[in-house]
Amino acid sequence: MLVKQGLIPAAGSGTRLGPFTNAIPKELLPVGDKAVIEHVVCAMQLAGIEEVVIVTSPQKHGLSDYFGSGKKFGVNITYVVQDERKGLGDAVLAGEHVIDGTFTVVLGDNFFAPKTFLKELIDFHIEQKGDTTVGVAEVMDVTRHGIITPNKNRILDMVEKPSPENAKSSLGALGAYVFSRDIFDAIKRTNPGHKGELQLTDSIKLQIDEGKNVLYKKIDGIHIDVGTPVDLMRANEWYLAHNGNDDCKKSP
Ligand code: UTP
Repeated sequence: MLVKQGLIPAAGSGTRLGPFTNAIPKELLPVGDKAVIEHVVCAMQLAGIEEVVIVTSPQKHGLSDYFGSGKKFGVNITYVVQDERKGLGDAVLAGEHVIDGTFTVVLGDNFFAPKTFLKELIDFHIEQKGDTTVGVAEVMDVTRHGIITPNKNRILDMVEKPSPENAKSSLGALGAYVFSRDIFDAIKRTNPGHKGELQLTDSIKLQIDEGKNVLYKKIDGIHIDVGTPVDLMRANEWYLAHNGNDDCKKSP
């Protein structure tokens, strides 16, 4: 099995990064010499992804202005629109009509280093014949993540942003996944949760309850969810301190 497609949800409103996000999509804010989402595209390209599907909102023209066809970035880019901000599950579902096999999802505002994390996640998924694989790490704040109950390689349960008392572990989803197309069916059967949003965690939980092979893999290295100005500064501080070079193809 080859994984050739990657989907990047980037249709959120980025209110915590206002007022910058009144003018520029949060995913285009820079971490070092690249937009934060460009680091994700780069990780996908290094993992052998040929087609990147960016999920954007009707207001976010900046993303296609930045990437165009994707040629300059070594991939083909397709844009799909999520009409309303209805949660991550809904954002993934917006790509259903262009995804034709196993695919990876990485959030457009997440910064990871080193970028080899994604190839490792995909290789693991293929080796272990997963239906879904969730990239996780030990997290400081369980209330910001989907928290898993692990058993060997498998996930027995997953709860979105539990209170510290209710968290079954400190292993939290980081915003990088590998899915078979079965996830679309699970999302369609997911009940909307908080504020009417379709939580991807709830769809993964449905798959677990139905006995699907839902796995997790620890991601080593640095992960910063660039959701607030402080996170953006932390990511840039890390990049400067580590002279964040990588091997991404970029033609002039
Ligand atoms: P966030 O949860 O950080 O949401 O999304 P947000 O709307 O961008 O930010 P705030 O909370 O208003 O500050 C994580 C990633 O998922 C995408 C976002 O664009 C971001 O890259 N996303 C989120 C979607 O594509 N659609 C959604 O409905 C929600």
